[in-house]
This record gives sequence, C-alpha cells and structure tokens, in this order.
Amino acid sequence: MLEICFRSHLWSVELMRVVRVRVTVVGRRRFPCLRTLLLLAALFFIALQLHVSNLTSLQSTTEPANDSAVILSMVPQILHKFLTYKPKNVTKFANGTLGNNTELRGLTIPDILRSIHRYNSAQAINNEDIFGPVQNDTLIIVIQIHTRIVYLRHLIVSLAQAKDIETTLLVFSHDFYDTEANDLVQAVDFARTLQIFYPYSIQTHPDTFPGQAKGDCPRDINYQQAQILRCTNADHPDLYGHYREAKFTQTKHHWWWKANRVFNELEVTRNHSGLVLFLEEDHYVASDFIYVLRQMQTACSLACPQCNILSLGTYLKTYNYYGDAKKKEALRALKRHQTLSAAAVPPSWGFHILPSLYQHYHKAEVTPWISSKHNMGMAFNRSVWTEMVSCARHFCSYDDYNWDWSLQQVSQMCLKVKLTAMVMRGPRVFHIGECGVHHKKANCESTAVISKVQKVLANAAKHLYPSHLTITYTTITKKSKVRKGNGGWGDVRDHQLCMNMTMGHR
Ligand SMILES: *[C@@H]1O[C@H](CO)[C@@H](O)[C@H](O)[C@H]1NC(C)=O
Ligand SMILES: *[C@@H]1O[C@H](CO)[C@@H](O)[C@H](O)[C@H]1NC(C)=O
Ligand SMILES: *[C@@H]1O[C@H](CO)[C@@H](O)[C@H](O)[C@H]1NC(C)=O
Ligand SMILES: *[C@@H]1O[C@H](CO)[C@@H](O)[C@H](O)[C@H]1NC(C)=O
Ligand SMILES: *[C@@H]1O[C@H](CO)[C@@H](O)[C@H](O)[C@H]1NC(C)=O
Ligand SMILES: *[C@@H]1O[C@H](CO)[C@@H](O)[C@H](O)[C@H]1NC(C)=O
Ligand SMILES: *[C@@H]1O[C@H](CO)[C@@H](O)[C@H](O)[C@H]1NC(C)=O
Ligand SMILES: *[C@@H]1O[C@H](CO)[C@@H](O)[C@H](O)[C@H]1NC(C)=O
Repeated sequence: MLEICFRSHLWSVELMRVVRVRVTVVGRRRFPCLRTLLLLAALFFIALQLHVSNLTSLQSTTEPANDSAVILSMVPQILHKFLTYKPKNVTKFANGTLGNNTELRGLTIPDILRSIHRYNSAQAINNEDIFGPVQNDTLIIVIQIHTRIVYLRHLIVSLAQAKDIETTLLVFSHDFYDTEANDLVQAVDFARTLQIFYPYSIQTHPDTFPGQAKGDCPRDINYQQAQILRCTNADHPDLYGHYREAKFTQTKHHWWWKANRVFNELEVTRNHSGLVLFLEEDHYVASDFIYVLRQMQTACSLACPQCNILSLGTYLKTYNYYGDAKKKEALRALKRHQTLSAAAVPPSWGFHILPSLYQHYHKAEVTPWISSKHNMGMAFNRSVWTEMVSCARHFCSYDDYNWDWSLQQVSQMCLKVKLTAMVMRGPRVFHIGECGVHHKKANCESTAVISKVQKVLANAAKHLYPSHLTITYTTITKKSKVRKGNGGWGDVRDHQLCMNMTMGHR
C-alpha cells in the first residue's frame, strides 16, 4: 500500500532508492499513508539538498572527488598542507603557455625576468638554520619542474615521508615562473631547499629565440619552400626534414642548464663531491630511497668500480612504453608530433610492479646504461659529470631533442669509460605523470596512478629497507649499434645555446 502511495508521485529514480529503505522501516510500523507522505516530503528535501551540495562540491574541485579522498586518506594529516589546492586566478594552459603570454597574476615578462634574476643571484638556501649547512657529501636532489603542480605536490609529499630527507638539499629547477609553485616550494619545511630558474624559457621568450621567433620556419614546410621563404632557420631542418619547434627543445636545454648550474655554478656546491640525484616533477619516491641509494653507493665502492650511475627507477617490461625498437621510434615521433597535453600511451603496469617490488626488493643489477630504461631517479657525482661535460659538443649537436638519448650518444660516442649503471630491480622512484586514460582529453593531471603507487608502496612496506643488496651483472651480448637521433634538434641556434650554457664555453 505504501509503495502505491509514493509511486503515484513522479519522483526521480534516485530519490526512490533513498526513500524505499526508509519505507520498509516505516511500513513495519504501519503508519498511515498520509504521515508517510509527510515524512517522504521531508526526506525529499533533505535528499535534494544533499544532491545539490554534492553537485557543487564536485564542480568546485579540479580533481575527481573520489580519487582525492582516497589519496588524501593515505597521506598523513600533517602533510595535507602540500596538497591543498589553491584556486587558480590566471589563464594558464597545460602546455605552459599563458592566456596571452603577457599576464601572470599581474606579472609582466620583465617582472618575471627580474624575479628569476633575483632568485638566481641570491641562491638562498631555506631551512639551513634548522638542518645545518650543506656538507661536501650531502645528497643533492635536483627536481626539474615545468607546470604540473599537482604532481609536484605529490612528489613533495612523498619526499617528506622519506627517511633521512632532512640530510639532503632539494634543488627545485623551474622553467616556468609561477607564484603558486613558488609558494608551494617555499612551504617545504622538512629539508633544505634552493630554487633555481632556467633563464631562457619560452615563458620569458614568447616571440624570440629560444621561444618560437617571428621569422622561424614553420615545422612542416620542406627545404625548397623554406629557401624561397628565406625564414631564419631555412638551412637547418632536422634529420627528418622538419623545422624547429620551440616547445620540444626546452626540456633538453633545461636539463643541460641545470646540471651545469648545479655542478659548476652554485656557491653551495663548490666543494661538493657527493651524489646528485635527478628527479622530475612527476616522479614519486619510496620512503627508503635515500637509504637504498646509500646502500648502492657502498655496494659500488666494494663491488663495482666500473659503475658510474646509480638508478633508482626502472621501467618494468609491461610498463616499458618504449617497447621494441620500431615501436620506440614511432612513439618518440608521436610524442613529438602531438601536443604535450594530448593523451599519451596508456600505462598498464599497476599489477606488474608488485611482484617486482616484492621479489626483487633487495636486488640490484649492474648493466650498461640505457637511456630509455635508466633515466628515472639517476644519480652520479662530480667526477662523472666532468667526463660528461667534456663531451658537451656531442650532447649539444646530436639531432635528438631528448636529453636522455643525447646522453646515451655521449656515452657511446665520446666517453672513455661508458656509462654503467647500478639499477634497483624493485623501483624506488615511480612515474606518476601519465595523462588520465579515462579522463577528459585535456586532463593530464590524473591522480589515478598516484593512488596506485600509494597502494603498491603501502603493501610493500615490510619489504623496504633491505638489510643488504644482491647484485647481478648483465653484460652486453650484442654490440649496441649507433642510432639515428629522434630529430627535433637540427637548428644550429639550439646547438649554440646549449654550448653557451656549458661551463667553460662562454
Ligand atoms: C571510487 O574509487 C573506488 C576505488 O578507487 C572505485 O572502486 C569506485 O568505482 C570509485 N567510485 C566512483 C563513483 O568513481
Ligand atoms: C584575480 O586576482 C585579481 C588581483 O588579485 C583580482 O582583482 C581578481 O578579481 C581576481 N579574479 C578572480 C576571477 O578571482
Ligand atoms: C597551448 O594551449 C592553448 C589552449 O589549449 C592553445 O591555445 C595554444 O595554442 C597552445 N600553445 C602551444 C604552444 O601549443
Ligand atoms: C591579453 O589579455 C588582456 C586582458 O585579459 C586583453 O585586454 C588583451 O587584449 C590580451 N592581449 C592579447 C594580445 O591577446
Ligand atoms: C669533505 O670535507 C671533509 C671535512 O670537511 C674533508 O675531510 C674531506 O676530505 C672532504 N672530502 C672531499 C672528497 O673533499
Ligand atoms: C670550499 O673549500 C674552500 C677551501 O677549503 C673553503 O675556503 C670554502 O669556504 C669552501 N666553500 C664552501 C661553499 O664550502
Ligand atoms: C665518483 O664516482 C666515481 C664513479 O662511480 C667513483 O669512482 C669516484 O670515487 C666518486 N668520487 C667520489 C669523490 O666519491
Ligand atoms: C652564444 O654565444 C655567442 C657568443 O657569446 C653569441 O654570439 C650567440 O648569439 C649565442 N647564441 C645563443 C643561441 O645564445
């Protein structure tokens, strides 16, 4: 009878479900239909209000509500401050360009250049008063940052939870000046920090080189057309016949600049002889990564004199989106051709990373350094850098816009002692920066992978902090052949800028 009472009203299916639960309770008490209707009406309004408030809360967050709640629940309360999302009051696109290239919270490009200059000359180290001065063997962690602050927030949260993080110096190297990122980095209170700014960014050079300059040749015209057009770089297409695209050159320039800056220019590192670890904004570390790095360092000095790079992250087979050589090339090309915000190859590694971390948590492998496999969470010291930088010409003129492939070229073609890596089989650095497969195309700030990594690490907790490392040696069986670069680096101005940024070549 009660069922009939409210079926006669045209309520939404959703409300029906809410109400029906109550009705069975009410029904047992045999209340008259009218009273029930009043109750239902009250419920209706409550449900409606809930519904409305749900909608508004969904609309007001940039992250999927579900993900955020789960992720937040796995982060200690004290670190929530690094994840609180400030509303953005600026037109900023995922690809890093500003709405109209001139405004950033009221800052003009000259303003930004002034700030960058101020930061770079002050070299102010935060929290030295708490953690003491940087020593010659302090672990220096350099983080390359573009614009993906959501990931950076999570990287910072992971760093905050790492054992011995207070003994390190965190160097945040930016190629995009943004007050939100600055505020975030300035809030780091668990280690010494230093911010440096890549001074030749596209942000500060929107219509001159190294940005896309007015007279530059369009990427897709051919050599003859370029000659007729007499555009600036007409004589220098890349080895696939394409002309320069500024946004694809910035990462390699920034990588090289920051390495030079850290090893050769900063006051604080003048006498530094310890390890420098390279991370990126979309990495996430396990809490034992410093502990493991120190173990690897000891293992190297005891058992692997030929090792000159330590690598904390490794792409596992299924996660290795570079795959075989053909796919690799296609993907590199694809990556270059699509806009940076378009969805990349979907990751499918969630399950496969588990056995690796469980079974191989104490295993390290000694292997020739391979750019596509060992470019994540790698560390080396000044003497290795000195060798690399002596090969600057190879790095700077190799027609490949990827810094890691360029480094591979340096290793193969120039170094007296090739790069040999000691690599953890159970990764201690994870890549969280995948574009969300199930999210809207433009959403490259998906947090789904973060949630997965959190779970993997929580489950692996008892396997972390291995008491010892077991080392296996992999020797090269087939001679690795010299590869053609991936292009995107044919313009002599890029070669020059890169050389100009190199120590001793000014
Ligand atoms: C919320 O997250 C859980 C676990 O990640 C998932 O199983 C569930 O489908 C999600 N729910 C919604 C409404 O997205
Ligand atoms: C953005 O900030 C400026 C200055 O701080 C303020 O005047 C403006 O109202 C803000 N805009 C929005 C949409 O919040
Ligand atoms: C960046 O993204 C915006 C909005 O999607 C677009 O208008 C602009 O052309 C893009 N810039 C570059 C350099 O891709
Ligand atoms: C930049 O934005 C301002 C205000 O939003 C607008 O007045 C101006 O015309 C824009 N400039 C260009 C070149 O789009
Ligand atoms: C580091 O500094 C300590 C004392 O400050 C010194 O004894 C040691 O030789 C230095 N190590 C190197 C490699 O410079
Ligand atoms: C580097 O070493 C020199 C000589 O030992 C010393 O005078 C200088 O203060 C040191 N610089 C730093 C930044 O530690
Ligand atoms: C730097 O690394 C190289 C190669 O691993 C090693 O031989 C050298 O001893 C290290 N230098 C210092 C000062 O630790
Ligand atoms: C590199 O430095 C040289 C000499 O100072 C200068 O002429 C040239 O314009 C610079 N090139 C770039 C791309 O910065």
